[in-house]
Amino acid sequence: MRILAIGDVTDPRAASELASRLWEIRRSLSLDFVAVNAENAGFIVGPDPEVAQTLLDGGVDVLTGGNHTLQKKGLFSLLDGDRRVLRPANYPPEVPGAGYAILDAKGYRLLVMNAVGRVEMEPSDCPFRAVDKILDREEGNYDLAMLDFHAEASGEKMAMGYYLDGRVQAVYGTHTHVPTADEQILPHGTGYITDIGYCGPRDSILGISTEVVLHRYLTHLPERFVPAEGEIRIEGVVFTLDESARRCTKVERVVL
Ligand SMILES: [Fe+2]
Repeated sequence: MRILAIGDVTDPRAASELASRLWEIRRSLSLDFVAVNAENAGFIVGPDPEVAQTLLDGGVDVLTGGNHTLQKKGLFSLLDGDRRVLRPANYPPEVPGAGYAILDAKGYRLLVMNAVGRVEMEPSDCPFRAVDKILDREEGNYDLAMLDFHAEASGEKMAMGYYLDGRVQAVYGTHTHVPTADEQILPHGTGYITDIGYCGPRDSILGISTEVVLHRYLTHLPERFVPAEGEIRIEGVVFTLDESARRCTKVERVVL
């Protein structure tokens, strides 16, 4: 099975471009499942429900979230109504939506989980114990499992990779928008990478106009962030899984 995970989509234009190219990408990379982190897809916050729908209609199998997912109230009904739209699992139980879903991938039951980190991030419940709870609760109900761990600190993400090694088939980080070069298979067969990057304008600072960001750094004057223009870069990782051995056999970074 081949699973593509795409990093944080930074604005609605990037979402539209990804959606328009995704069936061709699925075909050319022989993909069985596509996960996209959409927590910034409304530009910084998001996504708006329309943007989320564009991605789902374009061939995305699951939208994962992060620290900005719940900042768009308009998304709440989709979070509650469509199990392909996730928010982090380690939030209070009262918040809309769910932090995981069991979805079909090539005829297998794929458990997709989403959590946020706690180092240099807003307070949340323990992500390690939140993931444990999901794996316990759903034992026997899934064949394969993966986690989008939306976190700032590399060390926390690596800790999660080793914590889940052998228990899930893929653990990858999102949130920083900058891909790391440490894709690997951990000792017990979990595919891992600290950050998979982003999907947004190539000439930008994390998706934002370089001019605006530089102006803010140089002057400390308030200025509204705006998305950068120009060519869209799509970054992600393909995990190849051996379904019967329940192991990852290959982790490849891709730029599309
Ligand atoms: Fe984030």
